[in-house]
Amino acid sequence: KLPEPFQVPLPIPPVKKPIRSDAKADYYQVVQRKASLEILPGLKTEAMGYDGILPGPTFDVRSGRTAIVEQVNELDVSTVVHLHGGHTPAPSDGWPLDLIMPANGQHGGHQMGGHMEGGDMTTGRRTYTYPNAQRAATLWYHDHTMDYTAPQVYRGLFGLHIIRDEEEAELPLPKGDREIPLIIADRAFDADGSFLYPALKDGPGVEAKYMEGVVADVTLVNGAPWPVHEVDAVRYRFRVLNASNARRYELGFDKGPATFVQIGSDGGLLDKPIEHKTLVVAPAERFDVIVDFSQYQPGDEVTVVNRLDGNANVMRFKIARKAADDTRIPATLSTYAVTPRPAGVVRREWRFRRGDAGGHRGWTINGKAFDPKVMQAQVKLDQYEIWTFVTDVHHPVHVHLAPFQVLTRGGRSKLSEFDHGWKDTVDIRPAEVVEVLVKFTAHKGKYLIHCHNLEHEDMAMMAGFETI
Ligand code: C2O
Ligand code: CU
Repeated sequence: KLPEPFQVPLPIPPVKKPIRSDAKADYYQVVQRKASLEILPGLKTEAMGYDGILPGPTFDVRSGRTAIVEQVNELDVSTVVHLHGGHTPAPSDGWPLDLIMPANGQHGGHQMGGHMEGGDMTTGRRTYTYPNAQRAATLWYHDHTMDYTAPQVYRGLFGLHIIRDEEEAELPLPKGDREIPLIIADRAFDADGSFLYPALKDGPGVEAKYMEGVVADVTLVNGAPWPVHEVDAVRYRFRVLNASNARRYELGFDKGPATFVQIGSDGGLLDKPIEHKTLVVAPAERFDVIVDFSQYQPGDEVTVVNRLDGNANVMRFKIARKAADDTRIPATLSTYAVTPRPAGVVRREWRFRRGDAGGHRGWTINGKAFDPKVMQAQVKLDQYEIWTFVTDVHHPVHVHLAPFQVLTRGGRSKLSEFDHGWKDTVDIRPAEVVEVLVKFTAHKGKYLIHCHNLEHEDMAMMAGFETI
């Protein structure tokens, strides 16, 4: 029996503190461990958490200031950490075979049919270097283990990584306790409170009927089921992340007049704000939005619902009181250059399709199942490329290392209202063609392009490319 919605207060993940700092960097340590958490009231759920919490702690860092993060694996399975949206050197990017083996395990409890070679494995711990040399943006970090990303993120291995810079700090936007992360993730639970995930018993992947991806009946926001949050009747800034394995949301309010004024995308501030009645968020996408509660009265309640799921509940805001508000949404937020389509640019096509390849049942890119030994492209640094993504069904496509700008959707340069700004994940609808402009810089090595439906990803819808 599921709990009543809107009973649990919205938790805010704690901000991670460095263990020390010097002129060059801030140093952190995160311990990945099992934890018995009360997610559903009165029940215990065994989770895997960064520092034993779900979501993990939030990194809150300054642009250009290096973060050195030691990840300690005290779980009984291998793990890999990826900073999603990070402009990260390859050895710290979380290649799926750069495993952190558990200190006391052998293969970390996973059966990775013959794939083990080719990774840079460590035992017990690994240190990741994040230069944070990029504009202010809402990033997130999560597990990226070969074949097992989906079940490990499902059990809790995800958290936020916020980069701030001066350009953003100068804007008169809501801050402090009026700047709130909303990390949305659906999960299913057994009667005893344990997570229900339809994993196969004898290897990676999920039961055949979950090929399209695992969607579940409890919506967690910041780790709490359908939470409630008390707000003043003023503007708030919400950093929305869809951390679900496969579910898409069209977030809306059950009663007007509130809308979502988008100020930022995956890769940071937009040039100017965009007002949305509803917000469509695919897995891994981030939307930085302002919601103005000033037209509600104290005592009013407004519920956020998912219009793609029969207006299913997501969370509720209770308007507590009138209050002063000196924030504004400036007409110009940022002045990044929207690059005109360069001439004579390298083009590549990436086709995302269901398929069987190399004895692997599942999903493919360009007809191939992920093979960590195969690089599907060699990409020169500092050069614009136009990448074309082609789909059969819905696929949220994600590229590591560099953000991109969407150029065309469905053959037209009129984009969807959610395509604007710098993106690293683009929601591609069934049988659609999307072109993006991308340029990789600074770091040479092996990187990934993949579908961020995590079941598709684990079932091989991933490809390596090498920056040279
Ligand atoms: Cu959010 Cu390759 O991942
Ligand atoms: Cu997909």
